[in-house]
Amino acid sequence: MQIFLDIATEAALAAGVVLQDYLGKLEDAITEKGRPGDLVTAADKASEQVILEILRRHFPQHSILAEESGKLGNQDNEFLWAIDPLDGTTNYAHQYPCFAVSIGLFIQGMPKVGVIYDPFHNELFRAAAGLGATRNRRPIQVSETTELSKSLLVSGFAYDRRETADNNYAEFCHLTHLTQGVRRGGSASLDLAYVACGRLDGYWERGIAPWDVAAGIILVQEAGGKVTAYDGSPIQIESGRILATNGYLHDSLSQTLIQVPPLSTWT
Ligand code: IPD
Ligand code: CA
Ligand code: CA
Repeated sequence: MQIFLDIATEAALAAGVVLQDYLGKLEDAITEKGRPGDLVTAADKASEQVILEILRRHFPQHSILAEESGKLGNQDNEFLWAIDPLDGTTNYAHQYPCFAVSIGLFIQGMPKVGVIYDPFHNELFRAAAGLGATRNRRPIQVSETTELSKSLLVSGFAYDRRETADNNYAEFCHLTHLTQGVRRGGSASLDLAYVACGRLDGYWERGIAPWDVAAGIILVQEAGGKVTAYDGSPIQIESGRILATNGYLHDSLSQTLIQVPPLSTWT
């Protein structure tokens, strides 16, 4: 595990330098990928190239799933790297300093290694199965909040939110009433990293991709938290739904999420 963690760290730090270099200098190098608001920038692409070069040099046999390049390498290999070269592109394009590089390794389909690097704040989150979770190389743990009414949560909205009634708006409003607040950070990997280090007590989202959460899942687990589907069953990453908490709040948040009243009954 250590070698995977070290190489992923090398790649994340190198990609972070690229993101810092491009920050505020994108000018017209921002385009939409398809859905309105789903941006891609020259920084996403340059960051991804740096990561790919390092991972492929060290692990030429491994499979890769990279947000901007798709599937690469031998897809039958039991090692799969899931790469988000810039998680929080909308924030980044607006120079709102909440974005990160996220690199996760699945081994036989299970998230086992994760590195999330926020270059703006120079925060490096790392975890590997059995090795614990760290922030800037010091151990981290999830929070000890046990009541929803005392919790601070985070969530997000997928790019298809304008096209579906399953857009997370009702869940967001309902939990805003029940808690001390729900943040919308704009970077799923940092949302998970903040749950892992106890700044936030829980996170849920629908419409996420493997590269958004691969690293964050193992980080939360190794920090003592719990990650499942909304209903508490084992997470199916392909479903795009994730619930991650400090563990104490997991059942109450899960129950709340699966029984959210429709927005129309609120007004
Ligand atoms: C997005 C961010 C955001 C989440 C979206 C993701 P991107 O990733 O993680 O917080 O709500 O679902 O797609 O596009 O900035 O890499
Ligand atoms: Ca992302
Ligand atoms: Ca991205």
